[in-house]
Amino acid sequence: MSAPLLSIEGLRVGFRNASGGLVEAVRGIDFSVEPGEAVGVVGESGSGKSLSMLAVMRLLGSPARTTGGRVMFDGRDLLSIDEARMRAIRGRDIAMVFQDPQSSLNPALTIGRQITDVVRAHRRVSGTEARRIAAETLERVGIRDAGKRLDAYPHEFSGGMRQRALIAMAIACRPRLLIADEPTTALDVTVQAQIVDLIAELRRDLGIAVIFISHNLQLVAEIVDRVVVMYGGKVVEDGPVEAIEREPRHPYTGLLQACVPSLTGPVGPLVTIEGSPPRLGRMPQGCPFSPRCPRAESRCETQMPPLVVDFDQRFACWRPL
Ligand SMILES: Nc1ncnc2c1ncn2[C@@H]1O[C@H](COP(=O)(O)OP(=O)(O)OP(=O)(O)O)[C@@H](O)[C@H]1O
Ligand SMILES: [Mg+2]
Repeated sequence: MSAPLLSIEGLRVGFRNASGGLVEAVRGIDFSVEPGEAVGVVGESGSGKSLSMLAVMRLLGSPARTTGGRVMFDGRDLLSIDEARMRAIRGRDIAMVFQDPQSSLNPALTIGRQITDVVRAHRRVSGTEARRIAAETLERVGIRDAGKRLDAYPHEFSGGMRQRALIAMAIACRPRLLIADEPTTALDVTVQAQIVDLIAELRRDLGIAVIFISHNLQLVAEIVDRVVVMYGGKVVEDGPVEAIEREPRHPYTGLLQACVPSLTGPVGPLVTIEGSPPRLGRMPQGCPFSPRCPRAESRCETQMPPLVVDFDQRFACWRPL
């Protein structure tokens, strides 16, 4: 088997709270991505999905910072290389599409300018060539009349088209890894499904490895090879998508799977999980899911279960399904 493209090892992200203590939102996560593989990272709001990916890209804003772990890419630890090197990798080898498309596009610059800027930051090409690449990339993400659309400003695009433009910026330099943080509130479900399809298509046609972040297990399951389930800043389960769907072992995964949001029917899950995720700084001592878990027993509250490996599936639970 080939070496993984990206390997996240023991990654931790934390903040200093008002009294100077460290509060960790990502508490030692491990997973890897093979070349060309699509991995879904799923979990409810606040589970640490975005922070972990921002840490991988070294784009955490203050006060968040990486407090431990390694991120191996191409044999180098991204967390220890210098900023100039990281800047060369970001956008060229690893690109990220952010959760909030509004704030990721500059409203004052045309779409074409924003794509050509990315191209010219990483490749020595003429202005004309950069514009040709930009038009071709915009076309690739499904925007018709791409040549003309280059001169449009972001406000002239619909939400779905802005999302496509952001994906165009991300893939303009043909990265080896695309990290897509699913826009949750900005887009309606139909557009969201189209974006998921687009990412699946790009991955198939261009061979780009993908990390797809989502709340929605069913949505990502359609396009990924493997699923990583996060809860309370930890990976609670991961494995091949078929195994996760057919035989989830962690009760949280089981409940996520029972949440069946419909693409055509009313918006919102038919089944919701009782209670709410733990708050930062108030993490249970044991399993973070124990306060909401229908299967929890007393040791679940006091002892963090280790990750158990069962063939190619891993789960951290004292009372697995
Ligand atoms: N700048 C910040 N300062 C303090 N806390 C933060 C900051 N950014 C994120 N957090 C907290 O860290 C935790 C993890 O946040 P993160 O954004 O990674 O969650 P997420 O899994 O991406 O959630 P969502 O699905 O809502 O995007 C949350 O409790 C969040 O409130
Ligand atoms: Mg997020």
